[in-house]
Amino acid sequence: MGKLDGKVAIITGAAQGMGEAHARRFVREGAKVVLTDLNEGRGKALADDLGGNALFLRHDVTSPADWRRVLREAEEAFGPVTVLVNNAGILGPISPTVELDEDEYLKVCAVNQHSQFYGMKTVIPSMQKAGGGAIVNISSTAGMVSIVGAPNLAYVGSKFASRGMTKHVAVQYGPDNIRVNSVHPGYIKTPMMEAATDENGGGVADQVPLRRMSDPDEVSSLVLFLACDDSSYISGMEHVIDGGLTAQ
Ligand SMILES: NC(=O)c1ccc[n+]([C@@H]2O[C@H](COP(=O)([O-])OP(=O)(O)OC[C@H]3O[C@@H](n4cnc5c(N)ncnc54)[C@H](O)[C@@H]3O)[C@@H](O)[C@H]2O)c1
Repeated sequence: MGKLDGKVAIITGAAQGMGEAHARRFVREGAKVVLTDLNEGRGKALADDLGGNALFLRHDVTSPADWRRVLREAEEAFGPVTVLVNNAGILGPISPTVELDEDEYLKVCAVNQHSQFYGMKTVIPSMQKAGGGAIVNISSTAGMVSIVGAPNLAYVGSKFASRGMTKHVAVQYGPDNIRVNSVHPGYIKTPMMEAATDENGGGVADQVPLRRMSDPDEVSSLVLFLACDDSSYISGMEHVIDGGLTAQ
């Protein structure tokens, strides 16, 4: 028996990195999974690899119209959606605040923050039809504390916003049996992290008490826990997974 038997999940940004790892784990645990991303080539190939319980849909998470289409096609394929993982995100430029371009600021907020609003707004009615659900909003340690080396103000602001929106929606929709939690990863080995540093993570592992970066699959274990019924009384909380980074 899988921990997600009978669940229907949407995972955004699922073509690579942590989203890919979550999609692989969710299908293994019995969920029907809609993988969404801008990257059609990788997303389709991954869904093909995962078989009949996976469906890839092209999706720009900054577009409310795209969200409505994704929900419609997800429901047509698998029925009401009971799990939403708002994972898609971008770093934006490495830039001090006074040099941060206004358009870049808005773009990072659109992908990391506004998308989570659109996602929750669109999917909650489907969860209500199903009698409940679990939402996991992917934030960051940059949504917990201001870490030296955070790329820019927009990344930090959008990740703090994710944490706050999580609590608001958890309180509002708890009576509908919808749980909402945020996840705050530290340094995780993904294409995003590789693009931002060198192949050794630019030495970031030395800052971490466990002295290593994490594999995406370690984060999937936490996301799976929050998505499945093992966490049935956990809602409105932030869950940090950072090897002890923010404990210092
Ligand atoms: N890697 C880390 O160390 C780390 C740490 C903390 C938080 N995070 C967060 O975890 C999440 C996943 O990060 P990752 O490291 O796997 O990143 P990644 O860059 O490897 O993957 C992100 C995916 O999101 C997709 N995406 C980007 N913009 C999109 C859009 N507008 N619409 C739809 N899809 C879009 C990309 O195509 C990509 O497939 C992000 O929200 C990120 O901010 C990452």
